[in-house]
Amino acid sequence: METTQQHSTQTAKHHVLNRSIAIIGAGNMGSALMKGVINARLTPSEKITACGVHLDKLQQLSAQWQVAHTLNLREAVEASEIILLCVKPQTVPAVLEQMKPSLRDGHLLISIAAGITIEFLTERIGKALPVVRTMPNIASTVDEGATALAFGKNVSEEHQRVAISIFEAVGEVVVVAEEQLDAVTGLSGSGPAYIYMVIEALIDGGVKMGLSRDISTKLAIQTVLGSATLVKASGLHPAILRDQVTTPAGAAINAIHELESHGLRSMLINAVATATRRSKELSTIISSQSK
Ligand SMILES: NC(=O)c1ccc[n+]([C@@H]2O[C@H](COP(=O)([O-])OP(=O)(O)OC[C@H]3O[C@@H](n4cnc5c(N)ncnc54)[C@H](OP(=O)(O)O)[C@@H]3O)[C@@H](O)[C@H]2O)c1
Repeated sequence: METTQQHSTQTAKHHVLNRSIAIIGAGNMGSALMKGVINARLTPSEKITACGVHLDKLQQLSAQWQVAHTLNLREAVEASEIILLCVKPQTVPAVLEQMKPSLRDGHLLISIAAGITIEFLTERIGKALPVVRTMPNIASTVDEGATALAFGKNVSEEHQRVAISIFEAVGEVVVVAEEQLDAVTGLSGSGPAYIYMVIEALIDGGVKMGLSRDISTKLAIQTVLGSATLVKASGLHPAILRDQVTTPAGAAINAIHELESHGLRSMLINAVATATRRSKELSTIISSQSK
């Protein structure tokens, strides 16, 4: 076990849970959450059961992280107190159907499946269990995620604390009303895709102006990372920071004029709004197809 690295991310904000956790669907997001929980020492790895459909992948995770693994959904659920549902949305109905007989009072169900509502989950499990619906993003895989959580009506304060701790282990957490999760999908869920486009375009800009692709890539990535870090660390409004780097008649203010004339801010606002609407549509489609 890579003890030093694995334990280095523990901070005061991580509360020890010491609960057994089933990761149902140990794919990109499921395994990121699993690693986050282990790194933050929320729960010992032997209390975690990874569940999936490919034994070789599960064996690899097990060997690397000392977690238990199984192909059997019921076995995973029965061994655990917290059920982290991390399969693709279209797989959720079948997985819930299989898990249903093993779900019991005391279980906490946390879902990361996009568009699957708390009402749908509760209806399918057929029990009044506490259900937490979340929208994380891909940056959870590097512990820089942005996750929004919405709580069902059977969720106690203790359940909330548990759910928040799990996602704080892989980044920042906010709590929202469930109806706002579509807007979260439009902003932080889909946001990495927008930022990747910005990084890609900045790289091309540097290359156009004569920088090598390697140098341009390094500078573009670090510029985005550093700018985000500065906004977060300073707590200042981004417009103030922008003003600080625009010298009168200088290069940056000329570039800003160019960006404004092409409607950069309107484009991004519209992108979030469009993704929000699409998220809502998809949620309706998923729920109606699965009935
Ligand atoms: N990726 C994102 O940026 C993101 C952001 C927010 C929310 N989400 C949500 O996260 C969820 C997972 O996405 P992902 O990107 O992590 O997908 P993924 O990498 O494909 O992971 C899904 C996992 O589910 C497993 N699986 C499939 N059928 C199963 C079954 N019947 N029983 C148990 N496990 C099963 C798969 O196993 P095998 O590996 O063995 O095939 C795979 O490991 C989705 O619901 C998505 O909406 C993802």
